[in-house]
Amino acid sequence: MNVFISKNIPSQAVELLKNNGFEIDINSDDKNLSQEELIAACKQHDFLLNIGHANLDSHFFSSCPNLKGIALASVGYDHVDINAATRAGVAVSNTPDVLSEATADIAFLLLLAVSRKAFGRAREIPAGEWKDFSFLHELGIDLSGKTLGIYGLGRIGYELARKAKAAFNMNIIYYNRSKNPKAEKDLDAKYVNFDDLLTKSDAISVHTNLSPETEFRFNKDVFKRMKSSAIFINTARGKIHNEKDLIEALETHEIWGAGLDVTDPEPMSKDNPLLNMTNVCVLPHIGSATIETRTKMATLAANNLIAAAKGKQMPQVVNK
Ligand code: DGY
Repeated sequence: MNVFISKNIPSQAVELLKNNGFEIDINSDDKNLSQEELIAACKQHDFLLNIGHANLDSHFFSSCPNLKGIALASVGYDHVDINAATRAGVAVSNTPDVLSEATADIAFLLLLAVSRKAFGRAREIPAGEWKDFSFLHELGIDLSGKTLGIYGLGRIGYELARKAKAAFNMNIIYYNRSKNPKAEKDLDAKYVNFDDLLTKSDAISVHTNLSPETEFRFNKDVFKRMKSSAIFINTARGKIHNEKDLIEALETHEIWGAGLDVTDPEPMSKDNPLLNMTNVCVLPHIGSATIETRTKMATLAANNLIAAAKGKQMPQVVNK
């Protein structure tokens, strides 16, 4: 029984796999593998512990007939053709819950940083632009008592709403496939339709998965319907907003600011105009990047593989 691990992971998870009888091969130079490189590695392995967002499509599955299971170390699985995996008899698992707090922290950080133009103002210092104290230069906006709209109120959206309520007493409204009674009870969150989410929110934070329904959901038309004082935050997937439309909405002041932990493509080009806007903060997809969370994600992925190797259902299987 052997496993290919597509990037370096915390040693605790490697040890766990070893102690459960796995032979392990790791892509230890940590470089992104092309699909053909990943196929070449997976052809010789029973299992894959996959880090990152390489496209695992029907070509991948038909090229790896020995593969029995894939443990993704991510909650999102939009990069995997789940139907093709199921047809090929490959079980796929993800890592929900363990990254909700850390990802919500990054959404919260972006919300606060954008509201105070923190990244743009910090750039003034190395640029030698911090000179006289100015009373009116590049002012931010307060969050206290404002309305936070959550697009997709699942585990991560709930955590952000909880933090925003506790820290800034923000009013929470949300748009979701179904109502979230826990958020309504705990946080007095109000379910609204999409149009109300756009027109009533002072900040909108995206916490949904990428699907045909959500792809480019935040586009020219949608940004136009938001408040001109609104902040747009996306820590979910870069393809949920149309980047060209977002840039235009910011340049024409249709919205006030944006905070992104996800872009399309990733990595973002260093020449992207968003990087020079004072009212924009961009991070390089670090939602779950804490020591504790990455250790929990890798351990959960390892435990999914251990179950699969024993012929059991992986606890976090996504194609039951
Ligand atoms: C996730 O878990 O989906 C994060 O985006 C990291 O891949």
